[in-house]
Amino acid sequence: MEYLRVSPESLKLAAEVLRSGGLVAFPTETVYGLGADAFNPEALAKVFEVKGRPRFDPLIIHIAAVETLEEAAALSLLGEETRQKLFLLAENLWPGPLSLILPKSKKIPGIATAGLATAAIPFPAHEAAQELISLSGGAVAAPSANPFGALSPTRAEHVRDGLGDKVDIILDGGPAQIGLESTVLDITSGDIRILRPGGTPKEAIERLIGPVQDALCPQESDKSVPGGLVSPGQLKSHYAPKTPLSVFSREELIRRPCETGAAYLFFDGAARETWLTAHAAYADNVVVRVLSETGSLIEAASRLFEVLHELEKGGHRQIIAQFAAQEGLGAAINDRLRRAAVF
Ligand code: TXA
Ligand code: MG
Repeated sequence: MEYLRVSPESLKLAAEVLRSGGLVAFPTETVYGLGADAFNPEALAKVFEVKGRPRFDPLIIHIAAVETLEEAAALSLLGEETRQKLFLLAENLWPGPLSLILPKSKKIPGIATAGLATAAIPFPAHEAAQELISLSGGAVAAPSANPFGALSPTRAEHVRDGLGDKVDIILDGGPAQIGLESTVLDITSGDIRILRPGGTPKEAIERLIGPVQDALCPQESDKSVPGGLVSPGQLKSHYAPKTPLSVFSREELIRRPCETGAAYLFFDGAARETWLTAHAAYADNVVVRVLSETGSLIEAASRLFEVLHELEKGGHRQIIAQFAAQEGLGAAINDRLRRAAVF
């Protein structure tokens, strides 16, 4: 495995590796992706193997120009109304943390989409990601670059720790700016639905195309059986640290007795202060972290996986976390916390 900083040279080399069927982990604005040439079935098979990902869990296909969308998606199969929605979303939210479910093109091998007739297609905003995708042939399949079910990587170091020598190149582009995966949105069925809340808030989507359905909550959607799966990002236990995690509202967190040996993860500085005052006698026996001193959802999202990676390594008995407000990026933060809490 080669571990390289992003540079014009390393991007060129990484694109060659992709073209010859190799695997490249690369930065995006959401999380690091484990990339393979989306048109090469052998390379795609390696992605499943390296991640330990079940073959029924489809890969997402990244593009880096709207002109190449037709290579990945069969746009002729879309009705006029869906086409218009696609146009609005692409025009306003691409490039960015939004993966659109569209009918897949014939060029994308069946293994990429786990036999589904649709593909999830993001157009990331990250410059190095765009460059790599363009240089490598226009479409790169890239799930998050972590072992299946584990925390997503927001730094190249996380990829090295999780996958190591199983990849050919890890491109280090520094910490991911958004820090949560893309929003997965299904615009192909009658009910437009968010399959996975993520870096594009529901509000931004609804401003463009009107009301959309929420993701099913984890309890409703734990269908780990092939065929019953709408989007495996909906698996109940996912994005989970190895340490047991539970999650509470601010009020409940403050009301509960202090758990010795636990790591407390507060959403905002004010909640932490209130908690510390209420539990002053015990506070020396716990580790305390906060996602955003000022309570910024954007900052909290960008730090969530990073802090969970750190706490996971800390050998704590348990992690006790606070829910964010259920608005904007808070929906995705809460979704990840809920899934991390299921064992
Ligand atoms: O931000 C992201 O989306 C990152 C970066 C690297 O792009 N990628 C990522 O990939 O999170 P992955 O595979 O970890 O998550 C993609 C989600 C999975 O839950 C997958 O099941 C779902 O999208 N998905 C992929 N294709 C689908 C399809 N055709 N229909 C429904 N869900 C699909
Ligand atoms: Mg993932």
